[in-house]
Amino acid sequence: MTNKFHSVKSLPQLKLKQVYIETYGCQMNVSDSEVVISVLESDGYSLCTKLSDASLILINTCSIRENAEQKIWSRLEYLRTLKRKDRDLYVGVLGCMAERLKERLLENGVVDLVAGPDSYRDLPVLLAALSGGGKQINTLLSQEETYADISPVRMDKNGVSAFISIMRGCNNYCSYCVVPYVRGRERSRSPQSIVKEAKEVFEMGYKEITLLGQNVNSYLWKGDNKEEPYESDIDFSKLLEMVASVSPLLRVRFSTSHPKDMDDSVLHSMVKYRNICRHIHLPVQSGSDNMLKKMNRKYTREEYLSRIEKIRKLLPECSISTDIIAGFSGETDEDHQNTLSIMEEVGYYMAFMFQYSVRPDTVASTSFEDDVPAEIKNSRLNEIITLQNRLSLQSNLADIGKEFEVLIEGYSRRSKLELSGRTSQNKMCVFPAREYKVGDYVKVKIVSCTSATLRGELIE
Ligand code: 5AD
Ligand code: SF4
Repeated sequence: MTNKFHSVKSLPQLKLKQVYIETYGCQMNVSDSEVVISVLESDGYSLCTKLSDASLILINTCSIRENAEQKIWSRLEYLRTLKRKDRDLYVGVLGCMAERLKERLLENGVVDLVAGPDSYRDLPVLLAALSGGGKQINTLLSQEETYADISPVRMDKNGVSAFISIMRGCNNYCSYCVVPYVRGRERSRSPQSIVKEAKEVFEMGYKEITLLGQNVNSYLWKGDNKEEPYESDIDFSKLLEMVASVSPLLRVRFSTSHPKDMDDSVLHSMVKYRNICRHIHLPVQSGSDNMLKKMNRKYTREEYLSRIEKIRKLLPECSISTDIIAGFSGETDEDHQNTLSIMEEVGYYMAFMFQYSVRPDTVASTSFEDDVPAEIKNSRLNEIITLQNRLSLQSNLADIGKEFEVLIEGYSRRSKLELSGRTSQNKMCVFPAREYKVGDYVKVKIVSCTSATLRGELIE
């Protein structure tokens, strides 16, 4: 009894303004969580690494597929049990699901606070109001918010690679996708604030940055912008060069590229700067023109393949990865075969592969029927995965005997005698540890592989 009395008396003191944050979904959410922590630290919160230490638990959510949302609902049920034990604990839902479901999230009694992706600056105000009683919500989307002036608190595990968000939102309205509805209109962050952040992370010891956006290739900062004027517009290729010039020792990656906006200028910038990594993530979604049209992707199979051809020509050592959706509305077996054949033709080294999941309010949800039966979606996805495993192995086998520069990220999962890191092509590579440490660049010759990993030996 005495113990319990002590804990009740002292815990609220200890737990004062301690925030725990869980991030689901894409890299953009990881980057947003870092902004959120920065905002909260300025408001006197400190980040804690154990749920049980927190006075505030934030869940940064994803809405891209139905199962992403289901995961959050079950997590909220678990948090309900924690709240029963600790009446002073607050739970907040951030991100895409907050934006999509708004007040509906407050109905189940677990969630105290709902904040959409453009309202993180408002968190201190919402939290102050929360402790005065009553649930709080802000899901206003903005045309301008880029959080440009906020220095994210890095929460990555290895201290080697950092994410830098360069734009927010999406104007593309692919018919299956909820992102434009939950993340708002496209807006680009000022070049100077991006370069400044890149310099800062490099000075902190980071060796790799990934420029993030829903569609980085449509990045645009108008030259006549009064806030930060330039002689001419800064497009993505110019921005890439500005960032790559920070240091030849800073690797630069970017994600995601929409094939319709992936023009030659970006490829030329990559040719010019060795430190821009030889990897392009170019989501194809489907290999069928019928599906691409219905998905509102704004390119044909042929146009996509001509982009690939150009990449191969200008950057022969570049690896290409993709996203694929199986079983979109009306997809026939022939459409599916076209997806398999484009995968073979491109020879992706890696792919993110999904079954189509209807998202409320999208064009596909209102105009098309979700008519591919679940078992067919499932078997098509399995075929896609099986093929990708073969292509990944093929791509890795082709690297045997070649030499690569690897940036060390940590120990290999299997042994402390081995280190692991990525090649410029974004392939994971393990090799004997010797005297090297995290953050070093090493030269490695590939001696064997699996479909997921290259194994190398160090070259003097
Ligand atoms: N169903 C399945 N996959 C989807 N994606 C986006 N929306 C859906 C959906 N409704 C996939 C696309 C996109 C990736 C981030 O998620 O492949 O590129
Ligand atoms: Fe979604 Fe298409 Fe925008 Fe990507 S480009 S976020 S798939 S709408």
